[in-house]
Amino acid sequence: MSRIASDKYRSKVMSAEEAAKFINNGDRVGFAGFTGAGYPKALPDALAARIKDAHDRGEEFKIASYTGASTAPEHDGALAAVDGIAMRMPYQSDPIMRNKINAGVSEYNDVHLSHSGPQVRYGFWGTLDVAVIEVTAITADGKAIPSSSIGNNNVYLEKAQRIILEVNAWQSLDLEGMHDVYSMKLPGENTAIPITSAGDRIGSKYYDIDWERVVAVIETDAEDRNTPFKPLDQESKTIAEELLDFLGNEVKQGRLPKHLLPMQSGVGNIANAVLVGLNEGPFEQLTSYTEVIQDGMVDMIDSGKLLVASATAFSLSPDAATRMNDNAAHYRNHIVLRPQEISNNPEVIRRLGVVACNGMIEADIYGNVNSTHIMGSRMQNGIGGSGDFTRNAYISCFVSPSLAKNGDISAIVPMVSHHDHTEHDVQVIITEQGLADLRGLSPKQRAKKIVANCAHPDYRPLLEEYLERAHAKANGAHTPHDLAEAHSFHRRFLESGSMKKA
Ligand code: COA
Repeated sequence: MSRIASDKYRSKVMSAEEAAKFINNGDRVGFAGFTGAGYPKALPDALAARIKDAHDRGEEFKIASYTGASTAPEHDGALAAVDGIAMRMPYQSDPIMRNKINAGVSEYNDVHLSHSGPQVRYGFWGTLDVAVIEVTAITADGKAIPSSSIGNNNVYLEKAQRIILEVNAWQSLDLEGMHDVYSMKLPGENTAIPITSAGDRIGSKYYDIDWERVVAVIETDAEDRNTPFKPLDQESKTIAEELLDFLGNEVKQGRLPKHLLPMQSGVGNIANAVLVGLNEGPFEQLTSYTEVIQDGMVDMIDSGKLLVASATAFSLSPDAATRMNDNAAHYRNHIVLRPQEISNNPEVIRRLGVVACNGMIEADIYGNVNSTHIMGSRMQNGIGGSGDFTRNAYISCFVSPSLAKNGDISAIVPMVSHHDHTEHDVQVIITEQGLADLRGLSPKQRAKKIVANCAHPDYRPLLEEYLERAHAKANGAHTPHDLAEAHSFHRRFLESGSMKKA
């Protein structure tokens, strides 16, 4: 049975190939999609074919692609593979897309996720030509039920001149009621966002769509695409245990309440290990104000440890996605999906006192963190929501193994090769070697602690030696560096293929 109950919307149903004709060279397109959830399943492929045909005829055809965050191979990958993306924002993690960015084929602007939607609303990104949005169903009176992510969809629907909807019958109809669509306005028109606890609902269950701008509706039945999490390795488990001990101690010291504060957990396997640890740990009646719902959170809802989770999207393994689809009516009592301008909103994060925990590529001895660039130049994914949460958290933590590239490079370096989070925002660094609590410490004190607690023993002597040299060279100044040598770790690595050999 069709998921489109409205005659008006049904009259616009067409194939993805027909709908793709509404997108032209040079258009700015706001796509649904946040991690492998809720992205359009049919239109990107049809658009990629249209772009390829144009290129085969020797015609220029590239679009600007704005999304919520990363999408999936059949979206980012398909469009990037045909060199169809001129500009990408705000976050990506597809290997083909990444290569095109690093080869200079596509430009990329790495934007804080909470900024991206509002910046489109302000007009900073030019006129938005098209919005391509996945929904679960359209009711008889034309209300659109969001699907497994909201991201920037509310803004793209608000601003786009033409709207293309994909109605995906794979998404559970019981998602209706899980969403809370609340949009910000222009500066001067905004009032305080009335969220005072993670589960508060302040908006609508549906998207507000201007029918006059809807040019096409496509029916699909394709599942979201997310990669399964790796089995937990010992390193991830150790990092998770250190974080849990730290939180336990904060409770003992009276700096955290016994049910903790709303937790934010970044993307990836270590973040999921932290959730597994929390599920097996002593804390009860937890809440989460975060960006994505990962498998570990669904487990915690099942075990009763997690009362409520607020996010903008799912980021579930195929197994967990099936569980979610089969039991969405139950999970919607515990999960609120919001636009990313709200899920990642600095005002709310600070008001709630979120405890943030994100992955990193490297940290330096003073506590600056690089989340995005390999060896200073090569874009990995993007800053995502890590800046939104880190800067505004009650406690901000970063986690990483102490070694990367099979031990050839240390994740603790004298000076980060790219800055995403400054020493002013980073409070706790955790590797499998240990935890450095940087609160209340001066730069020199922080350096000693990070090297002693977090660096791998293979690299500790090199870092200690650097610190001594920098101290002497800078006459013990506030944050001693030897600029000629600061990036020698990275340089030596590049030259020799291994820092250990240097
Ligand atoms: N030096 C060189 N390369 C490094 C490195 C280092 N110090 N640390 C990691 N890498 C490389 C890895 O070898 C790997 O390369 P490969 O893809 O060629 O195998 C790649 O970077 C990714 O590393 P991995 O260990 O798989 O990372 P991860 O899955 O734990 O993710 C981040 C780490 C930083 C990439 C990820 O957390 C991220 O994108 N963060 C920014 C966004 C964010 O925090 N979002 C959450 C906010 S809610």
